[in-house]
Amino acid sequence: MSNLEHLLCPLDNSPLTRHERTLICANGHAFDMAKTGYINLLPVQNKHSKDPGDSKAMVQSRRAFLAQGHYDPIVTAIIESMPDALKQRTDLNLLDAGCGEGHYLRQLVALLGVNHQVDATGLDISKWAVAEASKRAKEIDWIVGSNAHLPIESGRFDWVMCAFGFPVFEEFARVLDTSGWLLLVESGPDHLLELRKILYPAVKPFKETYANGIEGFDLQHKSRCTFRFHLPDQDSIGQLLSMTPHIHKAPYSGRQAAQALEQLELTADISLRWYQKQGNE
Ligand SMILES: C[S@@+](CC[C@H](N)C(=O)[O-])C[C@H]1O[C@@H](n2cnc3c(N)ncnc32)[C@H](O)[C@@H]1O
Repeated sequence: MSNLEHLLCPLDNSPLTRHERTLICANGHAFDMAKTGYINLLPVQNKHSKDPGDSKAMVQSRRAFLAQGHYDPIVTAIIESMPDALKQRTDLNLLDAGCGEGHYLRQLVALLGVNHQVDATGLDISKWAVAEASKRAKEIDWIVGSNAHLPIESGRFDWVMCAFGFPVFEEFARVLDTSGWLLLVESGPDHLLELRKILYPAVKPFKETYANGIEGFDLQHKSRCTFRFHLPDQDSIGQLLSMTPHIHKAPYSGRQAAQALEQLELTADISLRWYQKQGNE
């Protein structure tokens, strides 16, 4: 069962205290847990749209695609690439910032739980994603919230993971403890290259993100995880397309060409970068 501790009121930043299934701050702002156990700490004032983040349909596509296991080597690569400082800890406090429907966090908690006491939190701005995540892993704290204003006490985590998400580095640094680690999981140069060649008249050259570094963090280790996978039918191709930005960016003709494919052999190329928060003793 999740704890939902160390959380802050999204309206006034004061600590939230749990009373059964409600979190309340000293100023009387109250937030009820949903039936499936997640908490919504994204007030209307902090929303830039009525239904922010991934839509219900996108969440369903991602869930259906990830459930087929095509991307499971990413979880293995994350565990293998973990810095020794984290591997050697008995306790791990982990935040998945932009967790989607929680596929990676669930697997990480299961695998890391063999050698560590894991206290895990998944946060996403999409209520659809968090509602889906919270049905599947009751031991994880699931929060609807924004990376832009994490409703979480400072110094709470040893490790923040942001996978294919929308990082807000000041906030990640704030919620990390003094020796905390940030893992960025992003697409590498050849990721889904075969699909991109079908979608676009010309594939854009790859441009590394944060090539000049990230303020407040030191890059300690980077690696790439590459593997091949096969999509056997139009449904799985459609699910993959719907969970990538290409569904919005690619021209109509490219999307039509991709949807007409009967099967597809693809390259996954994932970049894993581990950063340590600066100012460690
Ligand atoms: C490409 S998906 C990745 C989801 C998950 N990390 C995965 O790899 O399966 C990006 C996610 O970021 C979420 N998101 C977008 N803006 C966000 C924000 N400001 N704060 C937290 N999550 C956000 C979306 O709702 C979506 O679930």
